[in-house]
Amino acid sequence: MEEFQYRQNELWCESTNLREVARSVGTPAYVYSRQSILDHCRWIEGALHGIDHLSCYAVKANANVTILKLLASEGIGADVGSIGEMKFALQAGFSPEKITYSGVGKRDDEIEFALRQNIMSLNVESESELEVVQKIASAVGCTANVLLRVNFDIASETHPYITTGRKHNKFGLDPKKAKELIRGMKRFPAIKFLGIHSHIGSQIIRSETFIAAAKAMVTLITELRSEGIETRDLNFGGGFGVQYRGFVSHPSLPPEPEGGELHLSTAKLLEAILPELRKSRCRILIQPGRSLIAHAGILLTKILYRKVSDARTFVIVDAGMNDLIRPSLYQSYHQIVPLSLREAKHEVVDVVGPLCESGDFFAQDRPMPVCDRNEILALLCTGAYGYVLASNYNGRPRPVEVLVDRDQFEIIREREGIA
Ligand code: LLP
Repeated sequence: MEEFQYRQNELWCESTNLREVARSVGTPAYVYSRQSILDHCRWIEGALHGIDHLSCYAVKANANVTILKLLASEGIGADVGSIGEMKFALQAGFSPEKITYSGVGKRDDEIEFALRQNIMSLNVESESELEVVQKIASAVGCTANVLLRVNFDIASETHPYITTGRKHNKFGLDPKKAKELIRGMKRFPAIKFLGIHSHIGSQIIRSETFIAAAKAMVTLITELRSEGIETRDLNFGGGFGVQYRGFVSHPSLPPEPEGGELHLSTAKLLEAILPELRKSRCRILIQPGRSLIAHAGILLTKILYRKVSDARTFVIVDAGMNDLIRPSLYQSYHQIVPLSLREAKHEVVDVVGPLCESGDFFAQDRPMPVCDRNEILALLCTGAYGYVLASNYNGRPRPVEVLVDRDQFEIIREREGIA
């Protein structure tokens, strides 16, 4: 987000005035900073320096192929969750030996495609999946490299919809079952067991939560080793939380509420977790999504109307929950700021979209500078799980995506048309 700053009273992305972008491409528009993407990638790689590791970007967070190409050119890997994401990753230039495939419901054709592409590994989540992988690998005549995803029942402080590491969640194998399968790997001659995978959830902000997961993984790996079973890879998954509140500051903006995630950084989280992970003596894999891309993107939207009712003041904008569903789905907080700040009075408003749903809002009871019709607002930190979750609901075309590089910008996905 460091690349999004006010200069005087106007919001810029790198050396580009965002009003220029909005004027040129219209709204709603997702705008990304190339430098911010590279910075976040390099900060994460820097935190892992000197450690045998591979970071595999979780493609589900943002699958724009131009962005994938940028990340592939940094030499990192990719984690995919479907054949579609696998094809995007391959098209963007990620080499197959750096691609991992996660997901609780892989179809037979997806498994076969992954095996034929010879990707680095499949993270397998159930006994039946293991049986299917065995069957397909032997039919194809190859060996399937497999990590088992284990669910260690780790509580996390995130939204229930994005908690994946509790035992009531559909993800992973319980440790007892996982051990049983690993000990009986001879049953699966076409499978090569490479390691343990875990991903406990997303937007986790406490290092203690991650450390609990790391300890559980290391305990399992140590136990296996004592039985003579080697584990090459420890795949720790993603989930590293990011700071959403209070990114952009300016004396004319109302103070942002505390969110507990202030000054959070993936590098700091990794620093806290790594001493534990290193005890495994394994190669360390991580699958960061949000932490790589959330801060690099914003959503620009224009104010269509202001409406003052007895109960509330509504600011009705031209983006809706079909463009950015996170506030509606997870009650997530995104800072919202105008592109131009005049001498600003503040008011408390609901920022809402045009869709026929009361859940179509971006902010409720939010102190904001008073803004008029046609003013453009930026919803910050929307680079992750923004465009990828957009839909055509209410017959609305998906927005345009733009990449800023210093004082230049280019469209990296055209706005959809009605046709
Ligand atoms: N690895 C696996 C197996 C995953 O399922 C995910 C995300 C990741 C890695 C990346 O997690 P991250 O580093 O981005 O936290 N739509 C939700 C987030 C869903 C996360 C799904 N899995 C949101 O907007 O908050």
